[in-house]
Amino acid sequence: MAGVTERATERVRDVPAYRPGRPSPGPAAGKLSSNEAPLGPSPEVRAAVAEALATVNRYPEQGPALDALARYVGFGPEQLIMTNGSDELCYLVANLLLGPGRVAVMGEPCYQIDATASLLAGASLRRVPLLADGGHDLEAMAKACVGASVVWLPSPHNPTGAACDPAELADFIAQVPEDCLIVLDEAYRAFSDPELRPDVPGLLASRPNLLVQRTLSKDWALAGLRVGYGLAAPALVEALSRARPPFSVNSVALAAIEAGAASEQWRAMSVAMVRQERSRLERALGTLGARYFQSQANFVTARLDLARLGPALAASGTVVRPGADLGIPGWARVSIGWPPQMAILRAALYAVLGPVTTSGTPGTGTMNWDNEPQQ
Ligand SMILES: Cc1ncc(COP(=O)(O)O)c(C=O)c1O
Repeated sequence: MAGVTERATERVRDVPAYRPGRPSPGPAAGKLSSNEAPLGPSPEVRAAVAEALATVNRYPEQGPALDALARYVGFGPEQLIMTNGSDELCYLVANLLLGPGRVAVMGEPCYQIDATASLLAGASLRRVPLLADGGHDLEAMAKACVGASVVWLPSPHNPTGAACDPAELADFIAQVPEDCLIVLDEAYRAFSDPELRPDVPGLLASRPNLLVQRTLSKDWALAGLRVGYGLAAPALVEALSRARPPFSVNSVALAAIEAGAASEQWRAMSVAMVRQERSRLERALGTLGARYFQSQANFVTARLDLARLGPALAASGTVVRPGADLGIPGWARVSIGWPPQMAILRAALYAVLGPVTTSGTPGTGTMNWDNEPQQ
C-alpha cells in the first residue's frame, strides 16, 4: 500500500499549483499582477481594523458584520454566507456538490480556482472555449450543463474581463437544468457598466439552483483580510454554512466589513478612478495596435510580447501577470493601478511598441489562443 506522501501526491496529480502574481521589485504601486485595489480601504476601515486588534484573543462573532453586509447588499442574513475569501466558497461548493463521476462546466480559459476546487473534489471538467471577444459562449455552455453538477460562470470573466449581456445571462440561467448549480461569480461587478450588471434579486427569486459569488478583495480593497460571500436561497446557504469551518472569517475582517459597509463614497471614488484608468490603458493599447479584450473588470488582458516588453517594464518597476500563468500564453493581464503608475506603464508600452494605427478590437467566432499574430 502506498505511503501517506504518495497518496497525497496522487490526489493532487492533476491539480495545477497556484502561482500568485509576482511582487514589484520597486514600490508596491508597480504590482499590476493580482487585480488588487490600488488605493486600499477607507480611513474608517483602517481605523476599525486597528481597533479590532485589541480583541484578537476572542473567537470571532460574525452576527453584526453579517447583518451589516446583508443590509448593504439588500438581502436577508439567511440568504448570505460569508467566507474566507470568495475562493473558500468555491471549495465549499465543490465539496458539497462535486465528486468522482460528477462533471463541472467552465469556460476555457477559466478562473483557476474553479478548476482546482473541482479537480480536488474528484470531478471531471467540461471546458467550453470562450468567444473571440473573451466572453462566455452561453449557448454552448447551456448544452454542456446537461448531466453536469456545477457550472462556474465568472462575469466579468477572469482572465478576459468580458461580461455577459444580462438578457443572455437570464436566458442561460433559465436553460440550465435544475440539478446543476450555477455559480455566477461577480468578483468584478462593481467595475462593470451599470447596464451590464444582472438583476441578482430577480434571478435568485426565479431559480433555486443559482449561487451568486462575490468578494471584498476588489472594490472593497480587503484582499489581504480574505473575505467573500455568497447569495442564494436560505436552504442552500444553510447547507454551505454547515460545510464551512466555524470561524473562517476572522474578527479583524469582520470589523472591516462593518466599517466598510458605511464606506460607499470611498469605494465609488476608487472604482471611478479604476474605470477611468482602464479606458486610458485600452485607448493606448488601441493606438499601439495591440489586441485586447474590452474589459468590465479592474484589469485589461492584451496580446503583448513580454519577452520584448520585459526590460522596459522591469526598469519602470512594473509587474504584470504573464498569460502563461492563466492558460493564455502570448497574452498579459494588466491590473489597473493608480494614475501615476499607469502613466509609467503607458510610457513603457509606447517606448517599446511605438505608435501604430491598426485597430486593436477583437473579431468574431471562437477564440483561438495560439494562432494569433504576435504584437
Ligand atoms: C473571478 C474571480 N473570482 C474570485 C476571486 C477570488 O477572490 P477572493 O480574494 O475573494 O478569494 C478572484 C480573484 O482574483 C477572481 O478573479
